[in-house]
Amino acid sequence: MSSSSADELSPRESFLLERASVALNRFDDETPEIYRRPIDLPAQVQDWVAGWGGRSLFLTGGIGVGKTHTAWKTCRRWLEAQYGPGQPWQGSPVIKTFRSTALFDALRPDAPEGEGRTLSKQLQRVDLLFIDDLAAARPSTWTQERLFEIFDERYIRRRPVIITCDVLPNQLSEVTGPRVASRLAEMCGNSIVLLEGRDRRQGVAA
Ligand SMILES: Nc1ncnc2c1ncn2[C@@H]1O[C@H](COP(=O)(O)OP(=O)(O)O)[C@@H](O)[C@H]1O
Ligand SMILES: [Mg+2]
Repeated sequence: MSSSSADELSPRESFLLERASVALNRFDDETPEIYRRPIDLPAQVQDWVAGWGGRSLFLTGGIGVGKTHTAWKTCRRWLEAQYGPGQPWQGSPVIKTFRSTALFDALRPDAPEGEGRTLSKQLQRVDLLFIDDLAAARPSTWTQERLFEIFDERYIRRRPVIITCDVLPNQLSEVTGPRVASRLAEMCGNSIVLLEGRDRRQGVAA
């Protein structure tokens, strides 16, 4: 009869648990405090995490309905899920998050020596890229080209993005250019979640 109890963890399980907790703590440290509090995720978003197979996620809805909070929490749940049984990670998945305004600024041609290029290469490769409020900024033609490089590589490699935006993917052409909008629509497929309700910020001071 074996001396180990049924709920004792194998060395591999303990190793994965330890690695998950380091990665999740690191992600929590990088998460702005306002987005750390617990919220419920919509069922469609929970389904996206549970059935994830390389697909991207598009969160849309009006101002203040909870898109950014939902996206941060979704990134965390996705990260958590990568350490579940049967996951193939050898290392720890890398998540990068950007507000579109900051991203477009960083990709500009006058960004310090080569930084835009380095960033666009990095964002082609990260395991999950979250861009917040994609339609909030108007990129130049140059920035649209960098955005295309990022999205085209991610599209080819089936690397996911999480986008929050107050318009639908088919209305994004003006912002991202038609080639990015078309790829994004295919990357998300039917994983487009409309968050409804009032502007939650309006109720805060009452
Ligand atoms: N699921 C939620 N449950 C309760 N409050 C939420 C939830 N999501 C967001 N909030 C609150 O709603 C407000 C707006 O959220 P935010 O994610 O910034 O909206 P959006 O990105 O759609 O403009 C914030 O005050 C936030 O604390
Ligand atoms: Mg937002």
